[in-house]
Amino acid sequence: MTDPLRLGIAGLGTVGVGVVRIVRQKAALLAERAGRPVVITAVSARSKDKDRGVTLSDYAWEDDPVALAQRDDVDVFVEVMGGHDGPAKDATEAAIAAGKDVVTANKALLAHHGHALALAAEAAGRVIRFEAAVAGGIPVIKSLSEGLAGNEITRVMGVMNGTCNYILTRMQSEGLGYNALFEEANKLGFLEADPNLDVGGIDAGHKLSLLAAIAFGTQVDFDSVELEGIQNITIEDINHAADMGYRIKLLGVCQMTGRGLEQRMSPCLVPDSSPLGQLEGGTNMVVLEGDQVEQVVLRGPGAGMGPTASAVMGDVMDIARGFRLPVFGKPATTLTRATPARAVTPAPYYLRLSLEDKPGALAKVATVLGEAGISIDRMRQYDHDATTAPVLIVTHKTTRADLDAALQAIPRLGVVSGTPVALRIEQV
Ligand code: HSE
Repeated sequence: MTDPLRLGIAGLGTVGVGVVRIVRQKAALLAERAGRPVVITAVSARSKDKDRGVTLSDYAWEDDPVALAQRDDVDVFVEVMGGHDGPAKDATEAAIAAGKDVVTANKALLAHHGHALALAAEAAGRVIRFEAAVAGGIPVIKSLSEGLAGNEITRVMGVMNGTCNYILTRMQSEGLGYNALFEEANKLGFLEADPNLDVGGIDAGHKLSLLAAIAFGTQVDFDSVELEGIQNITIEDINHAADMGYRIKLLGVCQMTGRGLEQRMSPCLVPDSSPLGQLEGGTNMVVLEGDQVEQVVLRGPGAGMGPTASAVMGDVMDIARGFRLPVFGKPATTLTRATPARAVTPAPYYLRLSLEDKPGALAKVATVLGEAGISIDRMRQYDHDATTAPVLIVTHKTTRADLDAALQAIPRLGVVSGTPVALRIEQV
């Protein structure tokens, strides 16, 4: 096969421009590795006249990404626009209908429509590749679907939103509160246009749902990901966790349990000496566990032009070489619908309560926990003010259901002000 592989790129933001740069600057290397030239024939974006710092005049221009997807001189539709509905979805569907392969960086699109798109693509004999959608430059999709194909996957964990990890690690290193670091991340341009995608855990939840589908052979089910963002994490939580030998991370975990598929994206405590605990700044980390390999830890840049375009090009090169896999590693028609299981795996929890400083108050809380079947492992009190005493409790292993029962009863005791904070301590 020596015909060029012809790309049509929809979206000329950071990722699209990164792809144009690689194709232009590394043409000879790509052709040697693929055994055929890899070229761009057409591009599409919102504004034609914007200076993007790359030469685009060699390529045909389409205002409409759907028209780009349907062009006869495009073999692979590279979708790097973003958005889970609207033009990205329309153009991806059009590309499949027109017999094109698709490479996308769009986690939201696949989290919401991945199963339907995979069914359509495979029925048409096309592939959809999405390495760039999860953990930026880390080749996690390839690791899971190819390198670990001989394993039963037991658990997948990861810090997959660099912005949240940046905020949390800077809170710790600078001793600043969440709001100050949110503003800093905003000024640095780290936040998505809708910041809740980052700090609300949604972007990372999208990524987790895609990994779960590959790991467990299930249909993508983003709606069943238990989501909790980092907005309520205080500098006190960061410091208390550090005192006890933990770091707080926005951690995604998915595992198949006896009761179904557990998918969680939430702030958790992890040991500060663990690889996840040591992860600083905007870097991502994914931990893959399989019955044969035991544990593989992948660490790398989760965003940015070079890393994300690198991931897109890895997918393009597979297609150029003729390497084709089902979208989620096994035929989409065989992917099962998993029963969602909400945090059934027991774990120790960190609780922070603001307790009235009067006789018997702590005893009442201890009684409620005991009645819910929750055993206290460690307890500390810090920084009394005139009327309240912050209390930290680390429980022995308990289920989220038992914990929720206790958390619902605690306000009725009349000795706790505000909402208790409850964070899972993940065994990593
Ligand atoms: N906003 C994401 C992050 C990158 O901060 O990691 C794109 O998914």
